Amino acid sequence: CIVREYKFNVVMANATRLCSTKPIVTVNGQFPGPTIYAREDDTVLIKVVNHVKYNLSIHWHGVRQLRTGWADGPAYITQCPIQPGQTYVYNFTITGQRGTLWWHAHILWLRATLHGALVILPKPGVPYPFPSPHEETIVILGEWWKSDVESVIKEALKSGLAPNVSDAHTINGHPGSVPNCFSKGRFRLPVDPGKKYMLRIINAALNDELFFKIAGHNLTIVEVDAAYVKPFTTDTILIAPGQTTNAIVSTDQESGKYLMAASPFMDAPIAVDNLTATATLRYSGTVSSIATTLTSLPSKNATPVATKFMDSLRSLNSQEYPAQVPLDIDHSLLFTISIGINPCATCVNGSRLAADINNISFVLPKISLLNAHFFNLSGVFTDDFPGNPLMPYNYTGKQPTNLGTMKGTRLYRLAYNSTVQLVLQDTGMISPESHPFHLHGFNFFVVGSGIGNFNPNKDPPNFNLVDPVERNTVGVPTGGWVAIRFRADNPGVWFLHCHLEVHTTWGLKMAFVVDNGRDPDESLLPPPTDLPKC
Ligand code: C2O
Repeated sequence: CIVREYKFNVVMANATRLCSTKPIVTVNGQFPGPTIYAREDDTVLIKVVNHVKYNLSIHWHGVRQLRTGWADGPAYITQCPIQPGQTYVYNFTITGQRGTLWWHAHILWLRATLHGALVILPKPGVPYPFPSPHEETIVILGEWWKSDVESVIKEALKSGLAPNVSDAHTINGHPGSVPNCFSKGRFRLPVDPGKKYMLRIINAALNDELFFKIAGHNLTIVEVDAAYVKPFTTDTILIAPGQTTNAIVSTDQESGKYLMAASPFMDAPIAVDNLTATATLRYSGTVSSIATTLTSLPSKNATPVATKFMDSLRSLNSQEYPAQVPLDIDHSLLFTISIGINPCATCVNGSRLAADINNISFVLPKISLLNAHFFNLSGVFTDDFPGNPLMPYNYTGKQPTNLGTMKGTRLYRLAYNSTVQLVLQDTGMISPESHPFHLHGFNFFVVGSGIGNFNPNKDPPNFNLVDPVERNTVGVPTGGWVAIRFRADNPGVWFLHCHLEVHTTWGLKMAFVVDNGRDPDESLLPPPTDLPKC
């Protein structure tokens, strides 16, 4: 097996966007950061050196980290942060996975600029299960703030109010044309006619779900979250923060310049950055005076477009890539997701926004949970996270007023290899809203979803247990629910959270602790010697 080594020097660099310049945190001075390439079965070593004033940690989003939870990255969950001046080598082997994933900082709001693609190619000689594209390219969608992102969230936490939304969306780091600011450096994809291009699309935005579209061209979806899907064709994709999508574009149109665009999806009455990011697909031989072909994007509350896209996703479920959906369930869980308020005497309205799962607003500990678990340290967490709401109520109807949020560092314990069905139920405590939920350490199958309250009698018989899409991040629909299933075959401590950074900050997170199995190869490996200390 091959060892791939990378060096990430985390340094400040100046960047100019929207006609203003500010220092940003980067890897090796690049924004977006460098792409990591590996093949299935390779070992990857990434030496991270912290040259900035912030504590750091980096997460390899979607990499399963079988038995190597120490390399997963979320600060205070699986490691203490890498302090200024310190170095840590993330060391993991890629097992049973291939496709587009990504990496990002997993502390504070540093992932705004600290992120990049992680591409896992199939084993040598193994083809894609679809006609090989002529070329591949990475398309990272993101958000840009004119002000310092850490100050944005710091001030919001002080006031108790929602933070400002971003000032623009970006495609590969650039907003494209924006009113009142001619911007150089728009992403351009040069193409030849009559070919197939695979776009590895990543949503690295902090808070916005996005639609993505290319004028005049359809997109054939072949993979999401590094899991193959049954190919289908669409003109628009929906991609939530944390998710990845591989789409094939055939350059079968007349020569010209075609706009690619990313615009927000938000079907709740919540403020969102309304700007559309643009880039261009440019056929070779296009005379530069040929006008760019524009595209019409779905409106930001186009729920039917979003739903249609999500409902079209099915696992490939072929002989080589079977969908191994757990059929017997050991743990049947229902987690309510709420945005609410907590009292706060010093805040602007006398209260602060908070978020919870089953009424618990998760509090990060002072040392890592994985450490506490491995060394059996008491007093860091409890394993009494409720598997169901403490007081069932009409989740999407009129809200009860007596459901205060409790703080806690409570985990849910799973035996090795046990199976889990988890229903994530959005609620309307302040306003219902779509939440992209990400589980570390596992892929899961999305067996069902619906609008309104999950019905434990009527809904499960309609679950798709044959070819449900397999992913690591799933959108819980606004005022609705999704049901996921996974097998707890990875010992360690695994974070589950909303990938909207603002919600994670408010406490919309929890963790599973998965015990070791009986065999030595079913247990968590010991921590590496250079693991940072708190
Ligand atoms: Cu991509 Cu815990 O996150």
